[in-house]
Amino acid sequence: MAKVKAAVFASGSGSNFQAIMEQKDQLNCEIVLLVCDKREATVLDKAKHFDIPTYVFEAKNYPTKAAYEAELVEELKRNNVTWIFLAGYMRLVGETLLASFEGKAINIHPSLLPAFPGIDAIGQALEAGVRETGVTIHYIDEGIDTGPIIAQESLAIKEDDTRESLHQRVQKIEHDLYPRVIKEVIERHHNE
Ligand code: GRF
Repeated sequence: MAKVKAAVFASGSGSNFQAIMEQKDQLNCEIVLLVCDKREATVLDKAKHFDIPTYVFEAKNYPTKAAYEAELVEELKRNNVTWIFLAGYMRLVGETLLASFEGKAINIHPSLLPAFPGIDAIGQALEAGVRETGVTIHYIDEGIDTGPIIAQESLAIKEDDTRESLHQRVQKIEHDLYPRVIKEVIERHHNE
C-alpha cells in the first residue's frame, strides 16, 4: 500500500514533530509538509534538519481565518495531503480547514481531556492539585480540545513536581504515544 501523505502543524519547539520524524520508518504515512504560523518557531529548524518543506503563514496578514485557511487548504491539496496532525499548533481550526479534513485531523493535548483544555494544561493540572494527569489524542472539531477522544495515557503527579518536571514526563509519553496512534488510526481508516 502506498503511504498516505500527511502534514504536521506546529507553532512551537516541535519536540512532537521531531518524535514523529524519528519514527517515520515505522509509520504508514509520509510527512510531506510542516505548517507553522510563527516565523521564529524552533520547529522550523527541525523541519530543515529533517528536510521537510515548510508552509509558514502569519494570520495577521489575512483579513479572516477563512482566508488563511483557504490558502492553506490549497497548499495541502497541492501536496496531496490527506491527514493532518496538530502538535502544538496554537490556533483554533476553523470551518474551512475542517470542511476538507474532518475525521482526518488529529490533535495531541497534555491533559486527560475533558479536564484542562486550552493553554497551559500542565500548569492547570498543578494548580488544581489533582493526583494524575496525562495525554490525550483526539479528532479535531470546531471546539477547543473537544473532539472525539482516540487515545489517552495517564501519569501520576508527584508531591514535589514542578511545571518543568511534569512537563518532561508528559512529553515523554507524548513522543511515544503520538506516532503509535497515528499509525493505528490510519490503519483503522484503511480497513473500514
Ligand atoms: C505538546 O505538549 C502538545 O500536547 C501540545 O503542545 C505541545 C507541543 O510541544 N498541543 P512540542 O512543540 O511538540 O514540544
